[in-house]
Amino acid sequence: MAEDVNILEVLDEVQQNGLAALATVSDEAGLQAWRTAHLGRSAPVMLAFTRLGQISKELRPAVGQKANQVKLTLEAALEERAEMVKTASLRQKLDTERLDVTLPGRRTALGRLHPAAQALSEIIHIFEEMGFQEYRSPEVETDELNFELLNIPAHHPARDMWDTFHTTQPGTILRTHTSPGQIHAMRELCPKPIRVILPGMVYRYEQTNASHEIQFNQVELLAVGKNITMGDLKGTIQGFARRMFGETVRVRMRPSYFPFTEPSADVVMECFVCGSKGCQVCKYSGWLEIAGCGMLHPVVLQNGGYDPAVYSGFAAGLGPERIALLKYQIDDIRYFWQNDIRFLEQF
Ligand code: PHE
Repeated sequence: MAEDVNILEVLDEVQQNGLAALATVSDEAGLQAWRTAHLGRSAPVMLAFTRLGQISKELRPAVGQKANQVKLTLEAALEERAEMVKTASLRQKLDTERLDVTLPGRRTALGRLHPAAQALSEIIHIFEEMGFQEYRSPEVETDELNFELLNIPAHHPARDMWDTFHTTQPGTILRTHTSPGQIHAMRELCPKPIRVILPGMVYRYEQTNASHEIQFNQVELLAVGKNITMGDLKGTIQGFARRMFGETVRVRMRPSYFPFTEPSADVVMECFVCGSKGCQVCKYSGWLEIAGCGMLHPVVLQNGGYDPAVYSGFAAGLGPERIALLKYQIDDIRYFWQNDIRFLEQF
């Protein structure tokens, strides 16, 4: 009997020991160890439960109740201690790891248009403002459209101006210029007056250098109507150059030769890269060719379905990359298709 009464005191002691031990716990591992020792299956309180059967009937409820209360007290104390340990470790983290909220944020990398696409869309925009409508024609062409209908028969020496990429299909080539678009547009729109631009990629089997690439964009200009003169061509080119480069820009038209225009001219602009002093881009001449142009040859008008006795027209082929070279003062056209991120990221 005396022993049974003693159990209640032992349980009190178990509780005190537990609480005292818990007061020294300061981390997660300590909490785990304490839980096993004081609330685990072989912890003293738990043993009291398993031994209830050996206790006299009269005392059993009291002991049971006491054991229960000790267990609840220990559990509550554990929970409280765990909360304390957590806050303490957070506080320590805050003290040691510092967050500088004034640091600038990380820049997200944004995609952007390729500089050639930017120049192209700026040029298209300017001509659209001047009343030209955008038109597309194929990059894979027939020899007939790329040459013959443009008054360049087979074996004509002028073919040397356009070294050509041929496909395995005889008579099918990669277009060497956007001029075949002239025929496409005229045949579709005849006999209406025409004012269109035809932008797109062209291909030449050539040695590359600072101002020549094997692929590049062109923007073809085409105007057909009654009483169109060389003055209209010059005014259009000059109007474009002013919008693109500013009011004071100097452009020249230099007599030239193309089989599909008569008379023909090259449009040259003062070299912005070197300030007309001479550099590798302008081949040390101070001027850079940005377009070929001229009045439509009667044969071409006829091939497009227009009567050359009634209609006249002009055409021009502009090089957007050449224009971008000038605008952004880039000293080598080969940068455009090398995909060097350091170059592309500047635009
Ligand atoms: N197609 C010519 C070229 O690529 C340029 C040009 C276009 C010339 C239109 C005159 C008229 O060289």
